[in-house]
Parts: sequence; C-alpha cells; structure tokens
Amino acid sequence: MVISAICPSLESIPTRDALCTQQDIPLLEGLLEHIQRGASRFHVPGHKGHFGVPSPLLEALGPAVFRMDLTELDPIDHLQKPHWIIAQAQDLAAEAFAADKTFFLVNGSTSGVVTMLLSSLSDGDEVILSRTSHRSAYGGLILSGAIPHYIHAPYQNEMGIPGQITSYLMETSLRKHRGAKAVLVTSPNYYGLSADSRALAELVHAHGLPYLQDEAHGAHFTFHPHFEEPAMKAGADMVVHSAHKTLGSLTQSSLLHWHCGRIPLERVRSVLRMMQSTSPSYLLTASLDAARWQMANFGQELWERAIELAEMARQEINAMSPLRCFGEEVVGQAGAHALDPTKLTIHFQQLGITGYHALDLLREQGVEVEMGDPWNVLAIVTAGDTEESIASLLNGLRVILESASGDPSRCKRPPMGMPPIPRQLLSPREAFFAASKRIPLQEATGRACAETITPYPPGIPIICPGEEIDVGIIDYTLQLKDYGADIHGAEDETLEWVRVIS
Ligand SMILES: Cc1ncc(COP(=O)(O)O)c(C=O)c1O
Repeated sequence: MVISAICPSLESIPTRDALCTQQDIPLLEGLLEHIQRGASRFHVPGHKGHFGVPSPLLEALGPAVFRMDLTELDPIDHLQKPHWIIAQAQDLAAEAFAADKTFFLVNGSTSGVVTMLLSSLSDGDEVILSRTSHRSAYGGLILSGAIPHYIHAPYQNEMGIPGQITSYLMETSLRKHRGAKAVLVTSPNYYGLSADSRALAELVHAHGLPYLQDEAHGAHFTFHPHFEEPAMKAGADMVVHSAHKTLGSLTQSSLLHWHCGRIPLERVRSVLRMMQSTSPSYLLTASLDAARWQMANFGQELWERAIELAEMARQEINAMSPLRCFGEEVVGQAGAHALDPTKLTIHFQQLGITGYHALDLLREQGVEVEMGDPWNVLAIVTAGDTEESIASLLNGLRVILESASGDPSRCKRPPMGMPPIPRQLLSPREAFFAASKRIPLQEATGRACAETITPYPPGIPIICPGEEIDVGIIDYTLQLKDYGADIHGAEDETLEWVRVIS
C-alpha cells in the first residue's frame, strides 16, 4: 500500500516547540504552571483540589496529588485531541523510543494490546499470535471478531517455563495461514526471555503483514545496550510498553508506539477514542512524561546499576544450593534469543516446594515478589532497587532454605509444560455472545468453553471462549489448582463447575 494513504495525517501531527528537548518535561511543567496560576475550580473532579478530599485520603497522600488531579482544560491540553503540552510530551516519548508516534495510555497495556488488534484487524480476519499472549489479546479477539491461529512457544523443561517463538515456528505458521492479516508476538515473556524481534518482523513483513509486539515487560530495553534490541528499533509496526512495570511511572500508565507504513494512524486514533477514558488522569500522563525524561537523561546509568545488582543477586542465589536462578546459559534454549538479566526466576523444585508456597514463605519474611508459578518465583529488579532491597530478598531466601521442609517426592515430579492448544469450535467472539450454561467440569469433555480460565499472574489463559474442553485441559487445570495457582476468569472459583456454550 502507498505510505501516504496509510499516514495521511502525519503532516498534521503538531511539531514540538523547537526549544523542547529530552531535558524538558512539558506536561509536568505545564501542569505545575497551571496550578501556580491558582484559578478557582468550577469543574470536576469533585474534590476541587483540596477541600473536597476525604480527610484520611488527604492525610495519606498529601495535598500535591489532588492539586494535580485535574480535568481536561484547554491550558493543559486534551489526551484525545492533543495540540499542546500533551502533544509535546508524546512527541518526546516517540523520539526517545524511536517511534513515529507515541500515545499515552491510562488503562494500562491491556488497552494497548486491544488497540493494536482493533487497529489492524476486521471482523472475521485471521491473526497469528503467541499462545502465551496476555489475556488482553484474547479480549482483543472477542472485540475484533478475529479468528486466532496460535503459535506455541517451546517449553523450557528444566525450569518449567515457556520459551519464545522462533523464526522457524513463525515461518511455518505464516505458510500455513496464508489468509492471516496480522501477527502479534509477546516478547519478552514474564521471565525475561525474548524472541528475535528483528528476524520475526522481517519475516512477517516479507509476507506483507503488520507485525505487532506486546513488549509490556520491556519498556526499559531502549535505555541500555545490554538489553535485547527494542521492538520499535527492530522494525515492529506497533508496540505496547507497560511503562509502569519497569520504569518509574504510576501504575496503569502505558505507552503505545506506532511506525508509519502498515497501519493507518487515523484507525489507531479512532480505536483509542473508544479504549481510553474521556477523563484521563493527569497524574498518570504526567508520570509517563517524567518517566521518559528520567530514562532519556539517566536511563543508561540507572539500568547499569540495576543489572549489576541483579547479577550479584543471581550469583548469590546460585550459591544457595539447591535453589537455582538461570542466567545467560538459557539463551538459545526453547527459542530464547536473549535474557533480560533483571528478571530473577528462582527455582524451588529441588527444595521440594512449589513457587506458590515459596511466595508465601517469602511474604512471611516481609518480601513480596512479582509472582509464583508451580516451581518458581519471579523477582523483578529495576532502577528502583538498592543493595538493601536485594539483601532483603537474599535474606528471605536464606530463611526459607534453613527452615522449609520440602516434600522430596515433589522434586521428581515432571514439569507441567503448557497444555496443548485446544480445538477452536467457535470464534472467540461467537462464543462470547452465545448462550451458555454451567455444568460440572468433569462432565465438560467435548464442550465449547464459554469462559477464559487463566492462572494470574502471568495471565496466560489455559482455555478461552469457543475452545474445546478435553481431558488434558481438565487435568492441567486441576493440577495447577492443586499446586496452589490463583485461577481467574471461571465463574465458579472452586472449578467444580464450568460455563460452556449451550
Ligand atoms: C505480556 C503482558 N501484556 C500486557 C499486560 C497488561 O498490562 P497492564 O497491566 O499494563 O494492563 C500484561 C500484564 O501483566 C502482560 O504481562
């Protein structure tokens, strides 16, 4: 397609003030100036910046937060139609992340993943995507009406975690599904294993399709050469970043990046108008502006330190036999093209305790980690860590090592693997809107599931609407529950009953 037909509105993107550079924080600074002007507030929010705030909240958070919690006004710009300080802040983010256009998201990467799918697919279109996609991608399938063709990433048996999609798997899927209209890859995964984004983007482009990447866990990749090449630089058409996961912005704030060429910008904008609140939080958007400023100016030194701390922790953990924490040696295994060293996957199988149990034991020691799975806990190190915080993790692990009485029979249990991808009986959208009923899980073999059953975190579904429930899926779900997984999405949390298409 002719590029000018895809990007007609690029010329109308407001150009940044020539004086605005990566040293500026235009949105944050503009908000502070507005607050300083001290205009009386006859607009929402109802707390009016101070006197309407419930006193316990004011005491807990302090007054500054409420002064900055403003509604959209011309002097502080509009997220859905930015011309001024939000446009400047988003343009600075685009420059920092090597995108042609960046959008601030106030509903997390969840809305970004859905936006990528709705921007590139229509009802009934086929899409190739990682089976290890986050549940937001499955929501995007329901909303778009697209028909999924999944790729199963190889499994890293030793650690019991999913690996990454390889060029071979992608090529095979592209050849098999010649009608596909787009490809979505999730990389890095929760454990820090990355696919080769450049090779995948080239392959997908060679088949004439847009390449979308859910890089929710890799917003920091741009800011240190040790990390995997970021997807935007590797040629992806759209990428989502949970800035709040690894950068310093507030929870729920994310970034959606776009490259001119394959996906019409106006389409992205119109989807965002549906996905984003008409009352976007300035606290969130200003925090994105500030996080970009921090990374653009100090990112490399901050991540240098974080990598050093994580590597030191990895060494110490590996000295605590029988605990294990994999490093670079996993690169090349199970499709992993690179490892983000700031992700510490701590393996407990040889100690005979599950990751879920280890997570609870660490909690008793005052240490909260990102997640547990059947055999591991995942600890995330960022630029916010210090020697003291790392020491608290290591001390917690030492206490577990000294006191935990594991079940030796568990050490021999084989890894759970990933369940096979079930047969798709109805499209996710058809299944979502079809009439359904509850039946006992044990009697559900052969029925089309009406729910998305997902252990959370990491939020990768076991079965989705429209997929056939079989014995393998039932066993896998019950086994995960037995290990102690927190399973979301099923109406009956005990998992004795399941909702199926009637
Ligand atoms: C791979 C992946 N994509 C998207 C999301 C959704 O991100 P958010 O929580 O920012 O909505 C998550 C959340 O855990 C995720 O792990």
